[in-house]
Amino acid sequence: MTTPQSNNNPGKEHPSGDERYKAIDLTIKKFKFEKDALLEVLNSAQETFGYLTRDLLIYISSQLGVPLSQVYGVATFYHMFTFDPLGEHNCIVCTGTACHVKGSERIVSALSDEFEILAGETTDDGLFSLTNARCLGSCGLAPVVVLNGQVSGKETPEAVVRQVRELVSLSKDRAQPEAA
Ligand code: FES
Repeated sequence: MTTPQSNNNPGKEHPSGDERYKAIDLTIKKFKFEKDALLEVLNSAQETFGYLTRDLLIYISSQLGVPLSQVYGVATFYHMFTFDPLGEHNCIVCTGTACHVKGSERIVSALSDEFEILAGETTDDGLFSLTNARCLGSCGLAPVVVLNGQVSGKETPEAVVRQVRELVSLSKDRAQPEAA
């Protein structure tokens, strides 16, 4: 196992020189290194890198002066964070209370059955990831999904599966070499 690079000097740039860490540094500075900004900083890290690595969690822990166990605890509590690279297409299904009442679990089940993955997983071909979130802040539109960054409400399992199937199918077609 490789030892992750860490930064034991809060406020100093990440030693890798990876430019993406600057986006995280900006968020940390915007919130004046406040420990309460942990969720915002994790969000920024996920947006920039696409997923959270151990190295990122160590860096954030060091920069904010928050114990790594706490950073890890928050990152694993919220289902919007992922520790694996996402697929080409990603569907976040809200399973918060309002969406749950309106049947969001049926959307999760339908996608799981169709693509043979559980929430938090990516298909073997890397084309589709299924993610859960606790509340996406649009409860009036329940059940809500976010497909490739587009929010849509009052969704049905059939409609969501159809949309994802089409997207995945298009990606497969693009990957096929031209027929001779
Ligand atoms: S519970 Fe789904 S958007 Fe709030």
